[in-house]
Amino acid sequence: MIRVYPFRIDEEDVSLVEFISDWMSGEEIAKKFGISRNSVWKRIKKLRELGFEIDSRKKLGYKIRRIPEFNPVSCFKILRKFSIFKTLYYYPETDSTNLRAKNFEPNTIVVAEKQTSGRGRLGRRWFSEKGGLYFSMVLQPNISFDDIPKVTLTAGVSVAEALGKYSARIKWPNDVLIGGKKVCGILSELSGELERFSIIVGIGINVENQIPEELEGIAISLREIDKGVRRIDVFSRVVEKFADYYGLLVDGKWEKIRERWIDLSDTLGKDVEVKVGEVVYKGKAVDMDIDGGLVVESDGKRKKIFSGDCFYVS
Ligand code: BTN
Repeated sequence: MIRVYPFRIDEEDVSLVEFISDWMSGEEIAKKFGISRNSVWKRIKKLRELGFEIDSRKKLGYKIRRIPEFNPVSCFKILRKFSIFKTLYYYPETDSTNLRAKNFEPNTIVVAEKQTSGRGRLGRRWFSEKGGLYFSMVLQPNISFDDIPKVTLTAGVSVAEALGKYSARIKWPNDVLIGGKKVCGILSELSGELERFSIIVGIGINVENQIPEELEGIAISLREIDKGVRRIDVFSRVVEKFADYYGLLVDGKWEKIRERWIDLSDTLGKDVEVKVGEVVYKGKAVDMDIDGGLVVESDGKRKKIFSGDCFYVS
């Protein structure tokens, strides 16, 4: 049975996990948290559903035996260090975290273990088998409508930096590549009213998931190059970098992010074809404009492009 509603993680889940690192009776837990014995049982049940293995003995109470490597309580502990994230919802399985995120308040992160209808850019599908990292952030930055593409570029810079030890690079607009193969995709979507919109930034990273046959040679999973990679560490690094760069963006320091984008770019200097709807722009990618557009030069003429599908021409 697929669970269609999410788990909401809170401080009490974190405290409970810490509290029952050794045997603790139901009564002691109830007292510590000021809740009924029935609520204790519900909280323990929730942790078990999240994959925590908890022993229970009549006289001793409860004790955690095994904590899953990637679990939402550990994710929440990471997020609470950064003021931009307030709430975490976790789905063992859902259609798409971007779709789910549309129902939530700003400053929320939605994480899923698996997506059944993972969405990619330009109406494509995003393979989302177990082992990958799939999450969406609901953001409401105080920026103008024209600056929205910069949020996605900021996410690209954050992921590429977080995967810096694998020499990750950014293919415009926001694919992250390792050795020329795609390791991460980012899909930003708007939600809410035009006057007070939220931006949903969805990030998918191939960490321990198997790359489907049809994407072999095009996509890569981190475990192919790092046997010891852990989703929780990748999540932690990405969130940390994003919190830093997003802070710069809302402080009006886009120029700093742009500089990093240029440093990390795989696209600049290459001959490209950029498809924008039915129109194809051909030329050399020469710059990331101060407005956040890719500058493509052809026959001495420069064109600024804000979104599209980019192909390298050899
Ligand atoms: C792309 O490169 O086409 C973008 C892929 C974005 C995938 C992520 S996974 C988490 C979030 N939920 C989705 O359905 N899509 C994004």
